[in-house]
Amino acid sequence: MTIPYRLALRTSIALFVCSIALFTLARQPVAYASKEDQRKRGAIDFQKKGCERCHSISGIGGDRAPDLAGVGQRRGERQIQTQILNGGHGMPPFKSVLSKDEVKDLVAFLTSCRADTASGCRQWMASPSPQ
Ligand code: HEC
Repeated sequence: MTIPYRLALRTSIALFVCSIALFTLARQPVAYASKEDQRKRGAIDFQKKGCERCHSISGIGGDRAPDLAGVGQRRGERQIQTQILNGGHGMPPFKSVLSKDEVKDLVAFLTSCRADTASGCRQWMASPSPQ
């Protein structure tokens, strides 16, 4: 059986283009930050952007709002993000205060606040509480 010349040509051109595309994609630096970096940044923002004035984590911080040590167990990513953006029930909205990345970092940090883990999410903070 003979493969028509034009079909063979088209197929090899297509393969060539695909391999160039794959090669280019594979060489891209990893564009996303690791979850760990996000959580560390989120922990810093939590202290710097005033969350800690109202909220504590494992008892360290303000007492005007619920302690967030276990918030990742009670609330999903979406709910945490919505609360940060829109506030409500006594919490001011942070939509216009924080950048999108800062919100993402805070959400990554807070979803890791599951009181059941060994050192909880305080491990991401600069000065974790003594064990
Ligand atoms: C002025 C005080 C205040 C500040 C500042 C504040 N919050 Fe809150 N926040 C509250 C209160 C009060 C609630 C309780 C809302 C409720 O009872 O539903 C709350 C609720 C939350 C919840 C949901 C808690 C739960 O158990 O469901 C999250 C998450 C949260 N805040 C994150 C943040 C983050 C992140 C920041 C900083 C960017 C922040 N808060 C800053 C007062 C504050």
